[in-house]
Amino acid sequence: MSLALLRASFPNSIALDVDGVSHRYEIDGSALQVLDNVSLTIERGEFVALLGPSGCGKSTLLRLAAGLETPTTGAVLADGRPITAPNPDRILVFQDATLFPWRTVRANVATGLEARGVIREREYRIGEVLRLVKLEGFADFYAHQLSGGMAQRAALARALVNDPKLLLLDEPFGKLDSLTRLKMQNELLHLWKSGGFTALLVTHDVEEALLLADRVIVLSDRPASIVAEVRVEQPHPRRRDSANLVALRRSLLEKLGISHDA
Ligand SMILES: Nc1ncnc2c1ncn2[C@@H]1O[C@H](COP(=O)(O)OP(=O)(O)O)[C@@H](O)[C@H]1O
Ligand SMILES: [Mg+2]
Repeated sequence: MSLALLRASFPNSIALDVDGVSHRYEIDGSALQVLDNVSLTIERGEFVALLGPSGCGKSTLLRLAAGLETPTTGAVLADGRPITAPNPDRILVFQDATLFPWRTVRANVATGLEARGVIREREYRIGEVLRLVKLEGFADFYAHQLSGGMAQRAALARALVNDPKLLLLDEPFGKLDSLTRLKMQNELLHLWKSGGFTALLVTHDVEEALLLADRVIVLSDRPASIVAEVRVEQPHPRRRDSANLVALRRSLLEKLGISHDA
């Protein structure tokens, strides 16, 4: 399929271009170089996972794509246009669900629609996304009444209600127990397939990256640059013990500097 056709066939998604991006923070007059000439193109509807050592700049890259920061050098583009500010087309989901404790699940999910002043026209979406994340029976619950997995599902619903074209996920399942994490990975995959959005997932879990993504990108220590990129051709559902995935896992661990196959 030609690139133009491929792009046109994902109307609910955007292409992300990270073009020669270097980034540094100024702290008390001294500079901290975080990203070093990172270039990366993510096609419409593609699912890309980012792996890299702690503190290398992964979250910074997501914040740039979300429009929460502007790069010191280079450009980040959505469908060819520079990203200069946050936009509901591009939504960031964090490791901590960060629900408002004084609001119910439904009210938490409504937050983005209220902020954009579209709550009346779009209110029907709240019920739809709560069904999607299997929380329709918990709309009136408060955050403290939810399990970790349910809270993270509510956070996903809060993102999805905006119909994002680019979903940025910052270690979204990092704090969940392993069974809940497996379940949430499947659910994310299902949401991505039915939603048609572009997904960029930061994870420290090599297996998670391999089970979900079309492409896995490995970043170096800070300042992060791209050290490796692997394409995962396997169709879903993927088996973690398939020979192909086992081999890719070993090679990714090596590229991360972890030589022992844990
Ligand atoms: N807003 C900020 N101001 C100053 N330093 C920051 C800021 N955000 C992150 N950093 C620093 O930049 C480095 C990269 O951070 P981050 O992108 O969060 O890495 P990662 O997500 O890969 O762990 C870290 O050393 C962190 O302390
Ligand atoms: Mg981070």
